[in-house]
Amino acid sequence: MARSIDVSDLDIYYGDFLAVQGVNLTVRARSVTAFIGPSGCGKSTMLRSLNRMHEVIPGARVEGKVMVDGQSLYDPSIDPVAVRRQIGMVFQRPNPFPTMSIYDNVLAGNRLNSRRMKKAEADDVVERSLRRANLWAEVKDRLGRPGMGLSGGQQQRLCIARAIAVEPQVLLMDEPCSALDPISTSAIEDLIHELKADYTIVIVTHNMQQAARVSDDTGFFNLKAAGQPGHLVEFNATRKMFSNPDNAATEAYISGRFG
Ligand SMILES: Nc1ncnc2c1ncn2[C@@H]1O[C@H](COP(=O)(O)OP(=O)(O)OP(=O)(O)O)[C@@H](O)[C@H]1O
Ligand SMILES: [Mg+2]
Repeated sequence: MARSIDVSDLDIYYGDFLAVQGVNLTVRARSVTAFIGPSGCGKSTMLRSLNRMHEVIPGARVEGKVMVDGQSLYDPSIDPVAVRRQIGMVFQRPNPFPTMSIYDNVLAGNRLNSRRMKKAEADDVVERSLRRANLWAEVKDRLGRPGMGLSGGQQQRLCIARAIAVEPQVLLMDEPCSALDPISTSAIEDLIHELKADYTIVIVTHNMQQAARVSDDTGFFNLKAAGQPGHLVEFNATRKMFSNPDNAATEAYISGRFG
């Protein structure tokens, strides 16, 4: 099942600090949506509000509406743990479980979901997920070694493998290629293309070429000034954003005339 996400009048707070203000946008099912904008404008905050990871920070909360396939994500009847299972996340900083092997890291999500798998099935999930994340060749001979023993870029791909191993309906990726070389970056972009046939993907990226290559829609976030809340400047089809955006600030940011 693919998922669409409708955000309306969303304000996102850390305690008293309003980090992101007044966001309205729609993430279409089975599409890739990119969030771009300068550091600190609230892209990661925005992303975490889409699977209820924001509220795990003490004092953090949202106001406004997030509807997933017409159902309110923040309704009191919704179990945030179930939400995070269906709406997976790759974090900006790779966060493999430090005490777990590479193998167990890939399966960590499946095990949290208390899915019991036979060894052969588990082996299959591990191999397929690592192959899709372009990590298999590098780790296949040391699956029992700690995930923390990998390089930064390998850890990033391990976390991508972990996120896709559970086959979430929506995948939120926060700068998934920030530590990757061009070959792995290209493999992850191929993976995103492949996944969007079935899943809905939101990706945060500082790489304009990547946003243009992988996404169908793009949202540009910005800050009026330091300490001010971030806001969505423009949300449009990626083709339009990168050729003929409606907003002059979008044009300036995308073409590098910004600051
Ligand atoms: N845990 C937190 N507690 C308090 N404030 C936070 C927290 N995380 C982020 N912020 C603040 O919220 C604002 C948005 O931060 P966020 O990390 O979402 O930006 P970003 O657009 O993802 O930046 P970057 O491109 O550097 O990753 C910033 O002012 C940041 O300092
Ligand atoms: Mg961020």
